[in-house]
Amino acid sequence: MKYLSFDSFQKGLKTKTFGRSFLALSRATSTNDVAFNLIHQGALEGTVIAAEEQTKGRGRQGRRWTQTPGKGLAFSVILRPRMGMIEAAGVTLAAGVAAAKTLEDFGLKPRIKWPNDLLLNGKKVCGILTEMGPKKDKMGSVVLGIGVNLNQTKRDFPGEIKSTATSVYLSSGKKINRVRFFQRLLLHLEESYGWLAEDRFSKVLAEWRKREDSLNRQVKVTQSRRVFYGQAVGLDERGALLVRNDSGIVETVHSGDVVMLKSKIMRR
Ligand code: BTN
Repeated sequence: MKYLSFDSFQKGLKTKTFGRSFLALSRATSTNDVAFNLIHQGALEGTVIAAEEQTKGRGRQGRRWTQTPGKGLAFSVILRPRMGMIEAAGVTLAAGVAAAKTLEDFGLKPRIKWPNDLLLNGKKVCGILTEMGPKKDKMGSVVLGIGVNLNQTKRDFPGEIKSTATSVYLSSGKKINRVRFFQRLLLHLEESYGWLAEDRFSKVLAEWRKREDSLNRQVKVTQSRRVFYGQAVGLDERGALLVRNDSGIVETVHSGDVVMLKSKIMRR
């Protein structure tokens, strides 16, 4: 198996800051944990930590994220947004747009399921976990963790996600050069994160809407204390999902797990 190396990664990287400081590990508990440790040591914005294997890779809602060494990408980016500039929801949607654009660059047609699961033919190909760091002084920190399935075969996925997960290879037959994909993804991330810095969240939302696969669908929303059903009717100006529940009240969903129940309801 070919590991990611610093040299091959830097060659051809077109970003200004993202990935200029880069740590490639063969194994970590979770790259998000490594990122938080580096934040304590003063790591710069844009520092990227990648691992071939994560012994405690985590996903949203307390789920696990598994990764076969050499087949996909699992990495974290350290962000140090200016105070007030960014909320985690913004970073999350911006990252989903960047991942979608990268897949498009490689000839694929991904859709985004709120808030930022990337789907190919209805199956998950990429997951994003945004975690906030401690707010010390004037500088908050955010760790953006991304896992992408590129060259996995069916055998690489554990039983419980075999039917819901996919890779670029499985859904298109294309083998992907991991370094090229990684470099492209960082370039798109830097761009969409830049929109937030310029206070252009509307740009993020517009790009997200072009690719979304959640609106006008019947959904089941699972939150820590309750489950409810309704129709996804829109996003608010901060990126939260608006769901009209069965009593006709529109609820704002900031976090939670959303399952799409039926095909799109077409508006006449
Ligand atoms: C999800 O879809 O639930 C989010 C998955 C996020 C996985 C990535 S892999 C790199 C980073 N490190 C982690 O432990 N998780 C994220």
